[in-house]
Amino acid sequence: PLIPLRPLLETVDKYHFAQGAFNVNAVAQAKAAIEVHEMFRSAAILQGADLANGFMGGRTDFQNATLEDKKIGARNIANAVKKFAENSPIPVVLHLDHGRDFDSCKAAIEGGYTSVMIDGSSLPFDENVELTREVVKYAHARGVSVEGELGVLAGVEDHVFAANSTYTNPLKAVEFFKKTGCDALAISYGTMHGASKGKDVKLRREIPIAVKECLMHENIFGVLVSHGSSTVPQYIVDEINTLGGNIKNAHGISIDELKAAIPCGIGKINVDTDIRLAVTRNMREFFKNHPDMAQSPSIGGVCRLLEEKREQFDPRAFFPPIMDTVMYGSIPDDDVAALMSVV
Ligand code: G3H
Ligand code: 13P
Ligand code: ZN
Repeated sequence: PLIPLRPLLETVDKYHFAQGAFNVNAVAQAKAAIEVHEMFRSAAILQGADLANGFMGGRTDFQNATLEDKKIGARNIANAVKKFAENSPIPVVLHLDHGRDFDSCKAAIEGGYTSVMIDGSSLPFDENVELTREVVKYAHARGVSVEGELGVLAGVEDHVFAANSTYTNPLKAVEFFKKTGCDALAISYGTMHGASKGKDVKLRREIPIAVKECLMHENIFGVLVSHGSSTVPQYIVDEINTLGGNIKNAHGISIDELKAAIPCGIGKINVDTDIRLAVTRNMREFFKNHPDMAQSPSIGGVCRLLEEKREQFDPRAFFPPIMDTVMYGSIPDDDVAALMSVV
């Protein structure tokens, strides 16, 4: 079944484990992710980021997606996930990742998302509280859960309580939960988005410990979220580079650091980059094994892009010619099917 995030968070909090949350950019990825979670008999949190909704609404130049594009994309992915979830024995959450404003959250909720993140982390504290509170009011009235964000990711040299620290101040985090009523909060404690997180990152586990202690003391519910948690497997990076890519300075968070953060109060762990890397690897391998396809005008475009954008590992950068191919049928259906299966 498709469920909101909140009941899953309550289970996480009660039994002290953490739930992975994985980004998707296509219906096929959502289906694959649900199947993998079924194999592990685990609940699933699938996340569509704000611009991913624009992309899934048909905008290959998704950076320019309008609210209308996002609405279409949210509906597309939510309809598909709802159908998969109805036929699945595991609970599935569809969560908006890094919603940038109230309207994006509203579009996701109207489309059928069961949980939203409002990312007001770039705003001053009071404005972040105000915006998050507004989203909580709208979302909770519709049975939809809310994640907020406090602190700015990446702050290796920071001190937690310094005025200009980018780490999350634990006391402010508690105040944020109190004032907004959000269900979960993304904190900054040493993780970072993307594939270059720095070597041997050590997470500041005292931050989630302090937040959870204070929440417990005041009897306030709240789950802490670890964004930027990809492990960036070296073997995948090496394979991409062997297949013509040029990804440098690739470092993730070690599994041991993530595992150690769970008993300290981390209950949701976000992963996107690792999936992008895997898809990029698959695409590069696919075209290496199908040199004939490079003759097709549009697929030739994908191959050219792969050659030009050697440092790119967001597969959406390569999708416009793939979409052209699918839409205008310039290669046989079987080849289209093989091509789509790599994502
Ligand atoms: O945390 C950010 C996610 O990796 C989503 O990125 O906006 O490019 O889809 P995106
Ligand atoms: P990564 O870039 O480490 O995969 O982080 C993903 C994330 O935080 C999604 O919100
Ligand atoms: Zn994130």
